[in-house]
Amino acid sequence: MNPFVYQQLPVRIRFGEGAVKQLSEEAGLAGLRRVLVLCTPEQKSQAQMAADLLGDRFDAIFDGAAMHVPSTVVAEAATLAARRGIDGIVAIGGGSTLGLAKALALKEGYPIIAVPTTYAGSEMTTIYGITEDGRKKTGRDKRVLPQTVIYDPVLTETLPLEMSVTSGLNAVAHAVEALYAPDTNPIVVLMAQEAIRAMASGLKGLGTSPTARSECLYAAWLAGAALGTTTMGLHHRICHVLGGKLNLPHAAMHAVVLPYVLRYNAAHIAPTLNRISVALGVGLVTDVPHELRSLGISLGIPNSLSALGMGPERIDEITEELLESGAYVNPAPLQRPGLQKLLLSALHGDW
Ligand SMILES: NC(=O)c1ccc[n+]([C@@H]2O[C@H](COP(=O)([O-])OP(=O)(O)OC[C@H]3O[C@@H](n4cnc5c(N)ncnc54)[C@H](O)[C@@H]3O)[C@@H](O)[C@H]2O)c1
Repeated sequence: MNPFVYQQLPVRIRFGEGAVKQLSEEAGLAGLRRVLVLCTPEQKSQAQMAADLLGDRFDAIFDGAAMHVPSTVVAEAATLAARRGIDGIVAIGGGSTLGLAKALALKEGYPIIAVPTTYAGSEMTTIYGITEDGRKKTGRDKRVLPQTVIYDPVLTETLPLEMSVTSGLNAVAHAVEALYAPDTNPIVVLMAQEAIRAMASGLKGLGTSPTARSECLYAAWLAGAALGTTTMGLHHRICHVLGGKLNLPHAAMHAVVLPYVLRYNAAHIAPTLNRISVALGVGLVTDVPHELRSLGISLGIPNSLSALGMGPERIDEITEELLESGAYVNPAPLQRPGLQKLLLSALHGDW
């Protein structure tokens, strides 16, 4: 076995249907007495439920979390937090809400209890991002890692089907890139492979299997943990550039782009393709990228970037930005014609 480094991140996990009912107990264990609950405007009722569960430990709700963590929203929430003298945060929602919690933790060091309601996986990473003047600045900092994560599959039942599938494939993208990351290791491989298996099984069972939501959330945890301890490659880079420049919906964009990047890298990642193939439950097939694409299509999600609102105008500019940001490792070398072909195919949904 090759030598490796595995950085265990210190997060307490509570998983299970109805686990959110232990929110006050978890806040007590974390030493919190004046809690600010964060959510988006759409999830105010879930935030109110969290507030009720916190009882005496609850102080205020801020319901202005927004995609890409605008700095103006961070400033507004920080002002409220300071005025109320809070000592911790409960973030109930997807990656956008947790992103706001992380920005506040970075500024003021508040401990976070995360209650994820999508499969984005941000709760298991030290990665943060804040958008100012149209640019999203990202970084890694241990201060933004939640102290506790409560995974309650019941809370994901309200996530619309299409968003559930795209969010699930966003998690699969973390796992796929972790499998071939330059700093992958046997522990990450275990987590990533199991994440792909459980997510594929859970997504196929949505609406019919009573255990589907649990499988998806369990997979999201594992995929987030794999993302949190490895370095991502071309797929995450493309989505970062597309998200920043075109503001495409995060999870759906990941779901469309993933098979195309896998195909771009295919000649360099034979062991990874075998692992994905086994995890998807399709045996050892020859065209794994196609198999992954078929999974998304069979689950009814958009299969082109144009369906998400992207046009062809900025392909050259995006290609240049991908080539310029050479400070990341990817299995296949980055070459202009190949990248342009990848982006154009993903744009039109050509295969
Ligand atoms: N830092 C990291 O490690 C990391 C990892 C993944 C994603 N992200 C970030 O997270 C953001 C995307 O997060 P996302 O994909 O979870 O989407 P999101 O948080 O933007 O949520 C999308 C919409 O779904 C709603 N929603 C969420 N859960 C729901 C539920 N259970 N029922 C009903 N509605 C629900 C939200 O309120 C929102 O309106 C992006 O900004 C991305 O950059 C960060």
